[in-house]
Amino acid sequence: MSADTAKRQAAEAALAYIEPGEVLGVGTGSTVNHFIDLIAEKRLQADIPGAVSSSEATTQRLHKIGVRVLDLNDTGTLSIYVDGADEANAHLQLIKGGGAALTREKIVAAASRKFVCIVDESKRVGVLGKFPLPVEVIPMARSYVGRQLTALGGHPYLREGVTTDNGNLILDVRGLDIVDPVALESRINAIAGVVTVGLFAQRPADVLIVGSPGGTQIID
Ligand code: 5RP
Repeated sequence: MSADTAKRQAAEAALAYIEPGEVLGVGTGSTVNHFIDLIAEKRLQADIPGAVSSSEATTQRLHKIGVRVLDLNDTGTLSIYVDGADEANAHLQLIKGGGAALTREKIVAAASRKFVCIVDESKRVGVLGKFPLPVEVIPMARSYVGRQLTALGGHPYLREGVTTDNGNLILDVRGLDIVDPVALESRINAIAGVVTVGLFAQRPADVLIVGSPGGTQIID
């Protein structure tokens, strides 16, 4: 089974979490793209009065299938947020931001009662940190933040040619063995010039749906 088929399998299982009549939070990435495509294929748009999107790319895709995109300021707390991840550990703590949408993703996750994370099995890890940790940074702080991340033991690299939907830069940090994700999330977020670190540990996922050749696993 290809990773893409496993992503689609996880996305399909997440359809069961849609609460008809409730505004849905929608993340970003290829796994979420399957989720959006499946909403269209199964004609579930009528169940979804609107969605809060975590990126311009997702907004465009939702518009294409006829789902209204709403401003989080107008919706209040969301019941469900569906998003992918780059890594997930056994505590459902995540690394996210491979698609550079981490800040809006973290906001929508924070504003949602249930975060349903959809991944293929290659994303499951014992210790977070093999995937370079994305950090969204205000452009003028790039070098300063880079030095601070180096002092923490990481090797930060500028993601070339990428500007986030918020007009910022991404530093991808290699070489971090993330044994205490909650503490590291606070530590990196406290660096002046950091907008968001792609560690989702203080607000982990509530449900992890893993697509794999052996079937779909649901961990909660
Ligand atoms: C985007 C993300 C994505 O959820 C993450 O990169 C996973 O992407 P994919 O579903 O394409 O593997 O955090 O910022």
